[in-house]
Amino acid sequence: MAKYLIEGGHRIDGELRVHGAKNAVLPILAASLMCSETAIHNCPELSDVTAAQNILEHLGCRVAREGETLTVDARNVNYCDIPDALVTEMRSSILFLGAILARCGRARVSFPGGCELGPRPIDLHISGLQKLGAVIEEDHGYLDCYVDGRLKGSEITLPFPSVGATENIILAAATAEGTTVIHNAAREPEIYDLADFLNTCGALIHFGLGDSVIIEGVRRLNGGEHSVIPDRIAAATYLCAGAITGGMITLTHTRPAHLTSVFPVLEEMGCRVSCADDEIRLSAPDRLLGIRSVKTMPYPGFPTDAQAPIMAAATVARGSSMFVETIFEARYKHAGELMRMGARIKTEGRVAVVEGIRRLHSAVVRSTDLRGGAALVIAALAADGVTEVQNIRHIDRGYARFDENLRSLGAKITREN
Ligand code: UD1
Repeated sequence: MAKYLIEGGHRIDGELRVHGAKNAVLPILAASLMCSETAIHNCPELSDVTAAQNILEHLGCRVAREGETLTVDARNVNYCDIPDALVTEMRSSILFLGAILARCGRARVSFPGGCELGPRPIDLHISGLQKLGAVIEEDHGYLDCYVDGRLKGSEITLPFPSVGATENIILAAATAEGTTVIHNAAREPEIYDLADFLNTCGALIHFGLGDSVIIEGVRRLNGGEHSVIPDRIAAATYLCAGAITGGMITLTHTRPAHLTSVFPVLEEMGCRVSCADDEIRLSAPDRLLGIRSVKTMPYPGFPTDAQAPIMAAATVARGSSMFVETIFEARYKHAGELMRMGARIKTEGRVAVVEGIRRLHSAVVRSTDLRGGAALVIAALAADGVTEVQNIRHIDRGYARFDENLRSLGAKITREN
């Protein structure tokens, strides 16, 4: 099992280019199934992207990578199912449901189980697709979906602005007959990126005032080229690495506007943050300060995916910090691992209180999930001694060349496979 060995106490300084966004590229790859030939630039090399590539190839697409560009030829799609093994490889495979249904008129996808963040219901995905005319049945752990003719545009109000459900409905509605309006839709930057990609390929998607998305169905999508937006969560993670080590870091190829809820938190911790065009600079104090309260919210609120890396930084801050997790039920698993390194954290339900200590110590810890795993690496950068972070396959899902990037910034980190 692959692991990282990290010798703490080295400042993270220097410049780093941020890769394309995992959460944007996955729905875009699902969308590519509905197009003819597409080229997706700024496509990060992540295990989740490889998993999506495997699904596309299973369905009959030809996929090729050249550097950061992935080309998908979806002119010959022969299958409309995703077998269990491929679903287990990637939790977000549910995103393919809307795309397969739109493309093939039927879809059979193994029912995704729970995940590291607690139960992961897909009721909003299912009811959204049913509103568009899909018939969905459960059959021995599989979801069997079909549609008589074309999907039909509809008005859908989401009880919660689910990112995945919004994406699945957009995908299915893009080639449906008539217009679909999603009210209370998620408005994450990754949703706009998916719409940009689909519009490049001939879709007609626009964003209404407030929180609605309007999708005018078109008969078919063509090919096109698109460059994926930068990964705002990877950016936030590297900023936390700079912050916890008292470093000075410049991130390039970013979209600072996507991180406006994260900067005030880093500033409250005593960091100086400045932005120019696509660059973010952070300069950290010798010791960080605690944060009054961080509450995770749908965009443009503070992202749940940045909660764990910020918590890692808060463990060595002067004073206490409070976290309120409103998006996922069980998103404090990293807290227990951070405590093995000496962190003082109390969690109760959706609330966590971190009492900052001067230094963490090394330990053998285990990644519990993608962002929780990255948080352990961040904590290890500032801990005494050599920390072993196990089970880093979670980290590979969302950070391209994590160890290489951190080494280029001065970290002492090695990977053992
Ligand atoms: C996406 C992101 C993930 C991020 C999350 C919230 C991708 C690939 N993943 O996940 O990194 O943490 O948004 O910003 O883009 N829910 C239901 N029923 C549903 C769907 C969701 O109850 O049908 C609940 C979930 O259990 C969760 C909450 O809604 O508590 C948010 O989920 P959602 O916005 O759907 O997140 P994902 O799309 O899974």
